[in-house]
Amino acid sequence: MKTRITELFGIRHPIIQGGMHHVGLAELASAVSNAGGLGIITGLTQRTPDLLAKEIARCRTMTDRPFGVNLTFLPSVTPPDYPGYLRAIIEGGVKIVETAGNNPQKYLPALKEHGIKVIHKCTSVRHSLKAQQIGCDAVSVDGFECGGHPGEDDIPNFILLPRAAEELSIPFVASGGMADGRSLVAALALGAEGMNMGTRFIATREAPVHDNVKQAIVAASELDTRLIMRPLRNTERVLKNPAVDRLLEKEKALGAALKFEDIFGEVAGVYPRIMGEGQMDAGAWSCGMVAGLIRDVPTCQELIDRIMTEAEGLIRKRLEGLL
Ligand SMILES: Cc1cc2nc3c(=O)[nH]c(=O)nc-3n(C[C@H](O)[C@H](O)[C@H](O)COP(=O)(O)O)c2cc1C
Repeated sequence: MKTRITELFGIRHPIIQGGMHHVGLAELASAVSNAGGLGIITGLTQRTPDLLAKEIARCRTMTDRPFGVNLTFLPSVTPPDYPGYLRAIIEGGVKIVETAGNNPQKYLPALKEHGIKVIHKCTSVRHSLKAQQIGCDAVSVDGFECGGHPGEDDIPNFILLPRAAEELSIPFVASGGMADGRSLVAALALGAEGMNMGTRFIATREAPVHDNVKQAIVAASELDTRLIMRPLRNTERVLKNPAVDRLLEKEKALGAALKFEDIFGEVAGVYPRIMGEGQMDAGAWSCGMVAGLIRDVPTCQELIDRIMTEAEGLIRKRLEGLL
């Protein structure tokens, strides 16, 4: 399948694995890229720019296909050394960067100067337009369904994607709620040039996370996610568990007076315990509604091949046959 996204990034299939904290390590990024998609290393999961440089080098030994690095600009207790991470990306010869969160404008000149393509993840049409205006090459349009940070507008992809198609001239991929060939064909029909998946890629054999995480996703239904941190305007979609119930009780009790410190125990530094050790109730972790469509733990190659075969069947048989 040839789209503006496969052309832009030099990949075989229009499928991207979004950056994921403590999931997007070289094992997953290289497996996705080897399967013909675009794998992405999550920059900030590496505690220092030096460690990111090592992770990029490690990924290069595992694939000779293009892969990217995610740089997330979100509110944080101690701001990371972004210029240092940027240097690691540039010096590591990475040619694709996925930015997310705040406006990446400040870092674009350095990226452009080194021929790096930038795909910015946005949850609204207005932010997508801004990304286009400041010179991003593509956008990942992240609907309300998504795992992680869906923003504060709550517009699902059935509206958000065609709205993005009406306004944007740069290519965009659909993100949030994408799982299979049906998702890909629907995304293309709504104007996207491919799709970005997070949650679906966690439940793969190569994802370097504890098996409990994969099984929790397989066991979850579309009813099992919750939105947290809305009073802080830092909304995150997570899988429901006792820590999330506790956090939501605090949000209810404190209302507008809620501060980050009140929920520190449920959100700060919990990812290594969840992803690495499989302590599923250690805190809140991002997960999309799409968990309701995930029933197995295939390899990345099996997953991507299945998506492309299903998409082709849908286009050639079901859709063509309707006419
Ligand atoms: C466990 C997890 C961690 C994530 N961490 C990040 C992150 O660090 N930076 C980022 O830009 N997006 C992050 N995301 C969002 C994904 O890159 C992607 O946009 C999202 O998962 C798409 O929605 P889906 O889960 O329905 O596929 C994360 C998602 C999950 C599920």
